[in-house]
Amino acid sequence: MAEGVAARVGSGHSTDRRPVIDVRLAADHVARTLRSDVRVGLTAAPKWLPPKWFYDARGSELFEQITRLPEYYPTRAEREILTAHASDIADVTQAATLIELGSGSSEKTRLLLDALSETGMLRRFVPFDVSEQALRKTADTAAVDYPHLGVHAVVGDFTDRLSVPRSQGPRMVALLGSTIGNLLPDERARFLESVRASLEPGDWLLLGTDLVKDPDVLLRAYDDSAGVTAEFNRNVLRVLNRELGADFALDAFAHRAVWDPANEWVEMRLRAERAVQAWVGGAELSVLFKPGEELRTEVSAKFRHEGVDAELHAAKFTPYRWWTDSGERFAVSLARVV
Ligand code: SAH
Ligand code: AVI
Repeated sequence: MAEGVAARVGSGHSTDRRPVIDVRLAADHVARTLRSDVRVGLTAAPKWLPPKWFYDARGSELFEQITRLPEYYPTRAEREILTAHASDIADVTQAATLIELGSGSSEKTRLLLDALSETGMLRRFVPFDVSEQALRKTADTAAVDYPHLGVHAVVGDFTDRLSVPRSQGPRMVALLGSTIGNLLPDERARFLESVRASLEPGDWLLLGTDLVKDPDVLLRAYDDSAGVTAEFNRNVLRVLNRELGADFALDAFAHRAVWDPANEWVEMRLRAERAVQAWVGGAELSVLFKPGEELRTEVSAKFRHEGVDAELHAAKFTPYRWWTDSGERFAVSLARVV
């Protein structure tokens, strides 16, 4: 998220290797939007918060640590798919612009940038993320490592109406890591429609989705033995304490990962181990947790091929290819706009 943001706009000229950093969040975005999310979510029964609030600088770093955990297979599985198929993706799409939503470190994206650069078509990389610090690092690295590209980074919230810079087609929007699974079904539909509305015939969508599997494997991935995911989960309380002057005692909350078989998603929750009374000054809200009461901090939906295709069709994308890793744990779909 953008803490104390101020837009810095570099020239973006491809020879000076400085990225354009375009801050498309109001300076008071965190305080205003977080306050309203807190007022809705922490007064609901059961209590909940949107997962985008994990990702301050520390949350983004904790997520990077998660991607290296032995239990967290999605990153490795998706990397396997991109390693095998990035050149197919590049050959088919001939993309001139790669727009990556929820880019994070863009580490796997380098496979796409390499393959798309080899076609000679790629001109521009647009990483887009709500986490300004993570985005700046990604943009700076990409600008140095891909000097032939214009790097135009956007600090923004992709659940708002999507606003991306005008750019040369064919465009490919990538949403990797199964980040789409962190949206609820109606949010996913609105999100895909808004991506579709930002694209034109001849453009492409590349979508990473984690697949339904043995709940034990899933729960291990969301409750690792080193406790990194627990720290990531509790980070949302740190964000509330810092951004809204709240006084949550982090050690009063236990990390929980729960498989919901009806919705086919994993929920991350924070369970109050005792009665907790917290004051969220910036939202003028007093919050009471009974002992054992839980706060849902994330859903991470798991997908099936037919479900992904149905959601793509509903948003007026035409599914083109579906690849899985050798363990069939994760899928990457390529869909086109006709
Ligand atoms: N794509 C990377 C990172 C996934 S982590 C990977 O596959 O490993 C999810 C990323 O999405 C984080 O960097 C987070 O800051 C970003 N994100 C989450 N919600 C967002 C939102 N509403 N708008 C923009 N970015 C968001
Ligand atoms: C970013 N997102 C797809 C991750 C996931 O797996 O849902 C976030 C995460 N939550 C716990 N571990 C990782």
